[in-house]
Amino acid sequence: MDDFDLPYPQYHCPECGRDLPLNEARLTVTCASHQPEDDLAFVVREAKPSDRGDIEEICDRALGETEIDMFGTTFDVLKSINLIAEANEALAGLLSLSLRRGEAVIVLLSVYPDYQGKGVGAALLRAAQAYSRDHGLPLMRVAISNDDIPLLYFYMRHGFVISDIDVGRLVDDSGSAIAGFSGIAVRDEIHMLRPVCEHR
Ligand SMILES: CC(C)(COP(=O)(O)OP(=O)(O)OC[C@H]1O[C@@H](n2cnc3c(N)ncnc32)[C@H](O)[C@@H]1OP(=O)(O)O)[C@@H](O)C(=O)NCCC(=O)NCCS
Repeated sequence: MDDFDLPYPQYHCPECGRDLPLNEARLTVTCASHQPEDDLAFVVREAKPSDRGDIEEICDRALGETEIDMFGTTFDVLKSINLIAEANEALAGLLSLSLRRGEAVIVLLSVYPDYQGKGVGAALLRAAQAYSRDHGLPLMRVAISNDDIPLLYFYMRHGFVISDIDVGRLVDDSGSAIAGFSGIAVRDEIHMLRPVCEHR
């Protein structure tokens, strides 16, 4: 298995404060009452042309590119509907939404490590839901890789269900399995969906 050599940390250790590359991150299970406070002030808005540099940077840090393959299609974040969360006048997170066959596809959801666990991802998802509802889109779809347990947890907690698993798809694309979150081999593309009108 090859190492996934992303140059930027994806997570932040709450114990020691160290920024973590993907394969050094580990999960901890806690009581529901021991979750950190959502004490961050931020706004969510649609991106403007002047946000392009910040959007390119968060894509670079999350995936190393702005073009993302999922559902057998290549989506370009720069041509998508981009919803951004801004805190302290800086970009904290991005949700990129595209339209495909009359449905909404979440192309990318990424929150910078310093802002994770403070409700930014949930707020971006609510904004994507509102956008989809206002534009008459009945379903939101997303594809994640099998190693990305934090994202799988996040989407399931927000009512998404697995609709399909494209087994081996990510090995086929890269030629070999790379090590993703926590060193787990990146192999399968997990497809998830949620009706837009369903509330949590
Ligand atoms: C997964 C992710 C989008 C969640 O965004 P977030 O702003 O941290 O999410 P929220 O604060 O709204 O919600 C946190 C919830 O998700 C869970 N969670 C997932 N990842 C978490 C993280 N890194 N820190 C804290 N909570 C996290 C929490 O347990 C919490 O669950 P709960 O609602 O049951 O308490 C974000 O952690 C992230 O961007 N991770 C990096 C993913 C990435 O860039 N991957 C690269 C390829 S896409």
